[in-house]
Amino acid sequence: MLVTQEPNLRNFWYAVMPMAELVDTPKPFMLLGQKIVLWRDENGEPAALEDRCCHRSAKLSRGTVKNGCVVCPYHAWEFAPSGACVHMPQLSERKVPANYKVQAYLCQQRYGYAWVCLGEPVYSIPDFPEAINPAFRQIHCFNETWNTSSPRVIENELDMGHFAVVHKGTIGNPDVALPLTYELNDTSSTSLHLCSEISVRTVGQQQKNTRSKVEVTSRVMNVNWFAPFIIRLQLTYPSGLQHVIINHPTPIDDGRIQVLQFHFRDDKDSDVSVEELISFER
Ligand code: FES
Repeated sequence: MLVTQEPNLRNFWYAVMPMAELVDTPKPFMLLGQKIVLWRDENGEPAALEDRCCHRSAKLSRGTVKNGCVVCPYHAWEFAPSGACVHMPQLSERKVPANYKVQAYLCQQRYGYAWVCLGEPVYSIPDFPEAINPAFRQIHCFNETWNTSSPRVIENELDMGHFAVVHKGTIGNPDVALPLTYELNDTSSTSLHLCSEISVRTVGQQQKNTRSKVEVTSRVMNVNWFAPFIIRLQLTYPSGLQHVIINHPTPIDDGRIQVLQFHFRDDKDSDVSVEELISFER
């Protein structure tokens, strides 16, 4: 599937960058082949426009931010989050014509990330209950570009047959080729849930990672898929530990994704460090 050739994919929310990276200057991003610029408005909320000035096509992402507007680097026209040009230094008395505007996109922040929808959202950004559960801590894991496509990553996330081969040194058991259990349910056109138990060979490593007092020989995986490219993977260990991974391969174009991954874990008082968890995940 070539994601840039599927117009329906524009009608979903995608996380595009951590809010922590959206500070003083406008930032460029490419979503589904569309160049966009992001910045923070006067209230600190994220805003997104087409990264192309309506005057002489300069990249707005090379400009600056002033009073919550993005300022073009070429002739300093100022654009509000609505896309409207609200100030032109070259116009002393006349009002800025209303048709001087740039395409604006829906943009909001959630879970510490700026999310963008290029069209009309089919549904809202998914709710992850752990985000408001005080027993859980959130760990920002990955924000990096990979040379693959979003559908490939989703295919992999739902593939319970590869653990015994690809992950035989960490979370798979080469002697048990099939998942111990596999149950698919709650399927709809925009979501599904599967539950599977996977045999684990490297019991010591799993035990250390989960601070489990009992031997870890398997792990139960509850996978929720949200169309088109969001996975919520809940891992349950014999110790009772809940480890939830949100994996979101945001489509940059047909051959690249931005891997945005964050975790929730109900071990706030644990001595397992963030660095240790990210290292294990990688
Ligand atoms: Fe942007 Fe002229 S190109 S203000």
